[in-house]
Amino acid sequence: MTKDKFTVTAALPYANGPLHLGHVAGVYLPADIFVRFLRMNQHDVAFICGSDEHGAAITLRAKKEGITPQEIVDKYNKVIGDSFQQFGISFDIFHRTSAEIHHKTAQDFFLKLEEKGKFIEETTEQYFDEEFQQFLADRYIVGECPNCHNENAYGDQCEKCGSALSPTDLINPLSTLSGKKPILKSTSHWFLPMDRHEEWLTAWIQDGMLDGEKQHEPKAWRNQVIGQCMSWINNGLKPRAMTRDLDWGVKVPLQGADGKVLYVWLDAPIGYISATKQWALDNNKDWKDYWTGDRKLVHFIGKDNIVFHAIIFPILLKDHGDLILPDNVPAYEFLNLEGDKFSTSRNWAVWLHEYLERYPTKVDELKYVLTSIAPESKDSEFTWKEYQARVNNELADILGNFVNRALVLTQKYYEGIVPERGELTQEDERVLEAIASFPAKVSSLIYAYKIREAQSEVMNLARLGNKYLADNEPWKLQKTDPKRVETILHIALQITANLSLLLEPFLPSTAAKLRSFLNVALPVWGEIGNPGILVAGHKVNTPEILFPKIEDSLVEAEVEFLKQSQQSNTTAVNFPPQKPAVSFDDFTKLDIRLGTIIEAEKVPKADKLLKLTVDTGIDVRTIVSGIANFYNPDEVVGKTVSVLLNLEPRKIRGVESQGMILMAENEAGELSFVSPEKEFGAGGEIR
Ligand code: 2FM
Ligand code: ZN
Repeated sequence: MTKDKFTVTAALPYANGPLHLGHVAGVYLPADIFVRFLRMNQHDVAFICGSDEHGAAITLRAKKEGITPQEIVDKYNKVIGDSFQQFGISFDIFHRTSAEIHHKTAQDFFLKLEEKGKFIEETTEQYFDEEFQQFLADRYIVGECPNCHNENAYGDQCEKCGSALSPTDLINPLSTLSGKKPILKSTSHWFLPMDRHEEWLTAWIQDGMLDGEKQHEPKAWRNQVIGQCMSWINNGLKPRAMTRDLDWGVKVPLQGADGKVLYVWLDAPIGYISATKQWALDNNKDWKDYWTGDRKLVHFIGKDNIVFHAIIFPILLKDHGDLILPDNVPAYEFLNLEGDKFSTSRNWAVWLHEYLERYPTKVDELKYVLTSIAPESKDSEFTWKEYQARVNNELADILGNFVNRALVLTQKYYEGIVPERGELTQEDERVLEAIASFPAKVSSLIYAYKIREAQSEVMNLARLGNKYLADNEPWKLQKTDPKRVETILHIALQITANLSLLLEPFLPSTAAKLRSFLNVALPVWGEIGNPGILVAGHKVNTPEILFPKIEDSLVEAEVEFLKQSQQSNTTAVNFPPQKPAVSFDDFTKLDIRLGTIIEAEKVPKADKLLKLTVDTGIDVRTIVSGIANFYNPDEVVGKTVSVLLNLEPRKIRGVESQGMILMAENEAGELSFVSPEKEFGAGGEIR
């Protein structure tokens, strides 16, 4: 029988911040488990991801950090990519949408649709900031929500009442760039007439799948996904602009489209295709094999991405014509944290990279807990208390305890040699039958995207093993009936061997450890369920403790850390928590002094940078500073400010900067010089 072929994607995370556990539990970990399982089952599969590097999410963050969008995406592409690697998310490629191959792929895609007449060009009025001379992306406009009268609603959404808005719905709109009221100005854009697609979309979504052979299978799409799509369609699909007036993004590849880029939600999903292309180039494959023919395309996403993956991208793929449509869009609900929503701005989050830094040896513990509570069908919650309980009561007391008993007794009684299986009791027969039934149960759950249940089913095998040993008490029988003990331990070892395989997609390091204890290699899934994986006479190794218990002190420290990080934010939203302590010696290495700015000019082609000539009291030097959004050249001349003198010189946009102007930042992300309160001139040391 030929095996289904898969192209599996996981939502491209915005490269505007690190990942938190909510992202991991609701997209990347289940996708990884699914793919590891497919690989073990010898399906042909490509697992694709990368960072989403365009859109207002990026430019807003860049503005906030006072660096360029490119610097932001470089920084977070690395932070995110490193975390995925350390956490063992086994993408075939983790690519990025700033790559040239992506820009070209997205432009070609756009052109193909444009040539086929799939867009309509329309002139509409959009908000424009006169001071900054630019059109405003939805996220750059705030105002009063027409529904709940929250005064801080965004142009695309009110976060208080959750309603989807468009900028012109806002009462008293203000630009977040200048703080002023924007004007309406006409601009022309390419729109996707989604209304033309309602009919086939309805049939396609309601059937779950269209092709004849599968029409009678139970619908594989999750109810929430079908529900959300149908509610969009029933409200009437409207044409949606596929281009934007912005300078950050994929340029619209047409004459007369200067200053226009592709809408980020057009370019991002095409990122799956361009990433596949790059991977195919690197591995001597043909990318088309992964986007055409009888292949199953599966998008793992969070619920806020449903409409983009189940309506908009399918329309684009269908319009394109040569490519396959998704077979399934497993979307996850949200994970909450300790009774509240994850929130980046309030720093109410457990960040993946911080967890990995603190607990580099507890990767599988986190995987296990996150899969156990994965928000598959409804929102769920992570608490450190539950983390502790699941690790201690399930991983350590059930799985760890069972494996340890089986292997330690084998060492003790038989010096590590697998004993013969003798006469079987009825209970033994039942246990052997049960072992054989696990792979099919677990497989069908995973194929149905019920990853959480699948893991819990695997743990049932460990439970069964634990109970088998507890009921039979070989440690008591050894004196009276050593022959019987051989059979009991033989069976316990077969359970352990089956666990080492069944656990592989979920807890790969634990599974590998188990196989090294058992001294066996990783066979394919088809061999699982075999109650004779280990032959009598095979030698196994001495085990180590698989899961050390989580102490109360860890739980207390983590909850405290979370509160502290948030408390430092309650006085001012977004202020980061205190950094780790430095020694006095380290502090005195910094040479900070007062300097007076004597000349200032803009750096050409760099919106944010000023080139300053600064009198430091000991010399006159050039310093490049990213303050142009907050100060004009004229107004800074004559100011005495704080300067870090002994920062290694570096070239910024071709100008050598010999030091750094120290700036204070408020909660709105505005910058201010740090100047002496008395009339001090240049040269004074700051200590
Ligand atoms: O919501 C998000 O984080 C988006 N960056 C997801 C993009 S998924 C895909 F289309 F690229
Ligand atoms: Zn509202």
